[in-house]
Amino acid sequence: MKKIIIAIDGFSSTGKSTVAKQLAKKLGYVYVDTGAMYRAVTLYAMQHNFISKEYFKKEKLINSLAEIKLEFHFNTEKGFAEIYLNGKNVENEIRTLSVSQFVSTIAAVPEVRKMQVKQQHELGEKKGIVMDGRDIGTVVFPQAELKIFMTASAETRAKRRFDELIAKGENVTFQEVIQNIEERDKVDSSRKDSPLKKAEDAIVVDNSHLNPDEQFQKILQLAKEKI
Ligand code: C5P
Repeated sequence: MKKIIIAIDGFSSTGKSTVAKQLAKKLGYVYVDTGAMYRAVTLYAMQHNFISKEYFKKEKLINSLAEIKLEFHFNTEKGFAEIYLNGKNVENEIRTLSVSQFVSTIAAVPEVRKMQVKQQHELGEKKGIVMDGRDIGTVVFPQAELKIFMTASAETRAKRRFDELIAKGENVTFQEVIQNIEERDKVDSSRKDSPLKKAEDAIVVDNSHLNPDEQFQKILQLAKEKI
């Protein structure tokens, strides 16, 4: 079977990572969550007081980028790779609403993107990869054999994210979650460097009315046609 690159882009909380993980498992591919990479850099910036609600010390972050080492290590129990920031597993810490509130600001910095894209190229150079994010089909791997662009209504997405955060014990309101999703979509789609947009040759999957299994089967079928 031919090994290909599968790029899954789309708005926040469309279920990209769920389907990307399922697909990677089924095909024996590597899954890379690029959102986790931007989230880990954001966590680093928060830990070093480079960003808060009042300020963003962009130059300080840029000057510290060489200190940030991101790695993925496969967790056999969970069945996917988790992200490590300078040797520490930060998979849970990066999923909080506070990280979500700053991540789009950090992800808009060209120097941050350049560093992430370089690592993403290295991760994908052998193909056999499912990568999800915002610019995978447009910037990171414009040559990807299969490009999916996922959408769902803001309400559906906020409901999913809200349920996830509550299940993890976070103290958040539905209003905060929907506001964050809408704000991130706006910033991600309007930034100058690598804005979120559908690649011309991407296939749109609107999963507002698809359950996770229907969505998986649909995308698996598309992948099988390319392999
Ligand atoms: O996918 P997730 O929601 O975890 O991504 C968090 C944020 O990281 C996005 O809202 C976006 O600002 C940024 N991101 C990006 N480019 C990617 C992946 C994520 O700018 N390829």
